Amino acid sequence: MLNNLLFAMLLVVSVQAQAKELAADNYKAYCVQCHGMAGNGKGVNIRDMSVQPRDHTDAKAMSARSDESLYKVIKEGGTSISKSILMPSWEGTLSDEEIKDMVQHLRTLCKCKFGS
Ligand code: HEC
Repeated sequence: MLNNLLFAMLLVVSVQAQAKELAADNYKAYCVQCHGMAGNGKGVNIRDMSVQPRDHTDAKAMSARSDESLYKVIKEGGTSISKSILMPSWEGTLSDEEIKDMVQHLRTLCKCKFGS
């Protein structure tokens, strides 16, 4: 009984750790070319971009965004929240679950929450 409980707890912890790692990997695969390796908006693409990518380490700007709004812009792209079309839509590349985990990953980059 206790063993089962311990096993279940371990499973939950390792699933959460995996989600975190996967989000970081997805960020490296799909976001860094614009948003930068450090998430600071200084990716290799930016020289020729007319709208500069958001600095995800900017706590002031990022804390003004709700998780719902971050989710929406990742899933549906910049135009879905009246931002630049240069921010692509990731629907079809990332699952809904992966987008949720990505929002949490962005919160670790800015070290911020909505409203604080
Ligand atoms: C082709 C370049 C490009 C790629 C790749 C890209 N972005 Fe963006 N992103 C942008 C640009 C440009 C903006 C700024 C749009 C604006 O301010 O109008 C932006 C803005 C954002 C914003 C902020 C929107 C806001 O509320 O200000 C978030 C969040 C974001 N991107 C997440 C991501 C994530 C997560 C990925 C990877 C899955 C990603 N982006 C990949 C170009 C890109």
